Amino acid sequence: MKRSVRPLFSILILIVFAAIISCRTAVRRGFSALQLETDVSVGPPPAPVFNSTLLKFAAIDVGEAQLKQEIERLLDGNLAGQGRYRSFATLRRFNHLDARSRSSTGLPVTLRSPRLYRYWLEFRRVLQDWSRNKRFQPDIMLELIGQVKGPIDLHNGLVGSDRRYASCAVVGNSGILLKSEHGELIDSHEAVIRLNNARIDSFQHDVGSKTSISFVNSNILHFCARRESCFCHPYGVNVPIVMYICQPVHFLDYALCNSTHKAPLLVTDPRFDVLCGRIVKYYSLKRFVEETGKPIEEWNSVHDGSMFHYSSGMQAVMLALGICDKVSIFGFGKLASAKHHYHTNQRAELHLHDYEAEYAFYRDLVAGQVIPFLSNKFKIPPVVVYQ
Ligand SMILES: *[C@@H]1O[C@H](CO)[C@@H](O)[C@H](O)[C@H]1NC(C)=O
Ligand SMILES: *[C@@H]1O[C@H](CO)[C@@H](O)[C@H](O)[C@H]1NC(C)=O
Repeated sequence: MKRSVRPLFSILILIVFAAIISCRTAVRRGFSALQLETDVSVGPPPAPVFNSTLLKFAAIDVGEAQLKQEIERLLDGNLAGQGRYRSFATLRRFNHLDARSRSSTGLPVTLRSPRLYRYWLEFRRVLQDWSRNKRFQPDIMLELIGQVKGPIDLHNGLVGSDRRYASCAVVGNSGILLKSEHGELIDSHEAVIRLNNARIDSFQHDVGSKTSISFVNSNILHFCARRESCFCHPYGVNVPIVMYICQPVHFLDYALCNSTHKAPLLVTDPRFDVLCGRIVKYYSLKRFVEETGKPIEEWNSVHDGSMFHYSSGMQAVMLALGICDKVSIFGFGKLASAKHHYHTNQRAELHLHDYEAEYAFYRDLVAGQVIPFLSNKFKIPPVVVYQ
């Protein structure tokens, strides 16, 4: 494809896929009941009594069998057999690479070229590792420092410190940030985590200007991967990216982009993903049975169990719990008077997420409650939510 056509084409792709991608998670928030918390209770929390039925249901991953099949197919090299999204995305990926290689070397490159083959092998390797590791392991919270902060420190020229960040701000994308004037407060944290590449230009006064970690879902990288050199850096090329995988096929984008990124491009540990999934599902089930009075089995049909997913914001908060001594949450929540996103005009919420359930989780964090599925070896740092 000619370079001049590419931007327009990318926009078209964006529009087409906006309708069908399965875990798009730009952050929308809906705190209705959460009050502004200015301090955190650090006293001993009451002993939790988690309902064992809820725990049992939350531990069932409805989409597991389907995911396993999908991974098998991908490892077999069957990229095209899974519907329009995958065939289109992956083939176009290779075409794009093909065209680029040809223009840089002057040689035509086929799908069997050593270069593509290398990406293919890399793809298979990381996908295999990921799928082998995908299991429940609550102690994974204790490993986040080594997995995430370690590589970032190294990148920043700091060596082998297992210290946590003294304070972190997780900045969601809710319209409640507009006119909040939180910019300076956000930037005063040692680390600032932003979500899904939300724009900060011209919003700095309310959202701050510092970014230490860009947290995204893999759909974001998938779109970036279409750009020259996988450009995915609204906050600068030196900002590390932490990404969770929405669809295993996105490891192709990862394999392609990892080598071109200056700063670390880290994929969340699948054990961390499983843990986040269980926690959100627990809160969602609890809310469902309490608010509807319906049998727990009906949750699946209401929430489309196999598609249900935590939001990027939720996992970013979980990450912050693991790597920070204090966590401040900004831009999570909604008000009737506020825009959905501070930086877009999008209106509709996605039903793949249960934001209300996630807010209940944050409220428990603020209140210092014990959280289901977290190992008691892990000490939850104080959390404050700013509105
Ligand atoms: C646990 O939740 C289930 C499902 O809502 C409910 O039927 C059961 O009574 C609850 N058990 C306890 C001890 O509250
Ligand atoms: C991604 O790239 C970095 C830096 O080149 C490398 O150290 C890392 O091993 C790569 N990740 C994977 C999973 O191959």
